[in-house]
Amino acid sequence: MSVLRGKNILLGVSGGIAAYKTASLVRLFIKAGAHVQVVMTPASKDFITPLTLSTLSKNPVHSSFYNEDDENAVWNNHVELGLWADFMVIAPATANTMAKMVSGNADNLLVATYLSAKCPVYFAPAMDLDMYKHPSTLESFNKLTSFGNIMIPAESGELASGLSGEGRMAEPENIVAFIEHDIAGKLPLRGKKVLITAGPTYEAIDPVRFIGNHSSGKMGYDIALNAANAGAEVVLVSGPTHLQLSHPQIEVVRVVSSAEMYDACHRYFNNVDVAIAAAAVADYKPKNVAPQKIKKAEATLTIELEKTKDILASLGEVKKSQYLIGFALETENEIENAKAKITKKNLDLIVLNSLNDEGGGFGKDTNKVTFIDRNFTIEPHELKSKEQVAADIINKIKKVYNV
Ligand code: CTP
Repeated sequence: MSVLRGKNILLGVSGGIAAYKTASLVRLFIKAGAHVQVVMTPASKDFITPLTLSTLSKNPVHSSFYNEDDENAVWNNHVELGLWADFMVIAPATANTMAKMVSGNADNLLVATYLSAKCPVYFAPAMDLDMYKHPSTLESFNKLTSFGNIMIPAESGELASGLSGEGRMAEPENIVAFIEHDIAGKLPLRGKKVLITAGPTYEAIDPVRFIGNHSSGKMGYDIALNAANAGAEVVLVSGPTHLQLSHPQIEVVRVVSSAEMYDACHRYFNNVDVAIAAAAVADYKPKNVAPQKIKKAEATLTIELEKTKDILASLGEVKKSQYLIGFALETENEIENAKAKITKKNLDLIVLNSLNDEGGGFGKDTNKVTFIDRNFTIEPHELKSKEQVAADIINKIKKVYNV
């Protein structure tokens, strides 16, 4: 999954022959799951039509402050466009447009929008080789980067003039790769490894029966996705669930029983920075697993159970610098019980789920949680979707690492 997924991208197209390549660029952004709006300079419309870009971006294209042919025209709000964008890409960036960006000469909608945008701005220059090397152009590059804009360098090759050299706008695939790489490199949890448990465990009674629970695994999967999107490398140890997750940053390790989950967690724990136990692990399992299917011979059947290993507590015992997060589901004396679990399992944070709160719990899409850290600082949260609770947990981790 691309880091561009869900991002609002404002593409500024200025008037150079490379503008024809922005059709592919828009398509690649859309394919990566981004939302795209396009703002064009008047000159760029000689090289590619607004209709092409509006069709591909699935949004109207903006190119003037208002439509002069329509007396009821509304003002094209460049401030709103700038605020909408997660980032702006100016491609191609001609020598003229760059000079205007440097001097703040807002005589077209593109430059006015650029000046209003508070988001990161990438620019991909395109011009003939001698223009590219001209001191004025180099001055524009220096000034624009010193303002915090990010340059996507031009490539070498055959130019529209027939000459060959540096100045050709980076290919659309390379622009997308450059931006993805840049964003991924700045993600707050980049370089951090996170272990997450999720879902129920099934404890075998015989070859066809088991003791299980109704955990959907959603909470753990949401945390995994959120951590991965923040740049972390995630190992998700999942009990049996119908949920699927495909993300380049997430390794899913599927297990069935608590014993398998225990082994998987200890295989990875040494090498992670954070571990989050969101699984609803069975507390008891049959002491003896019948080798054959148990026949219904007697009127009653007694199955002797024994405790499973507490995975979270065992991680707490061997933990070194890992930040360890557990969940607690309590029905009475919630805070006191949760605090006791922090100490008993050597946790850094506990996410308390109180069954007294409506909307929280198994199979629901919402959770009402309270965070308690190892200093017993209590942080209650509103009733939220599990996605939002996952985001709160990941935000908490970001604070731990000051990112
Ligand atoms: N947990 C675990 N392994 C177990 C049982 C629980 O890793 N065998 C983890 C859960 O993933 C959760 C936390 O422990 O993060 C709390 O589980 P909970 O069932 O609330 O508490 P218990 O410690 O099992 O205590 P009790 O049932 O007595 O409240």
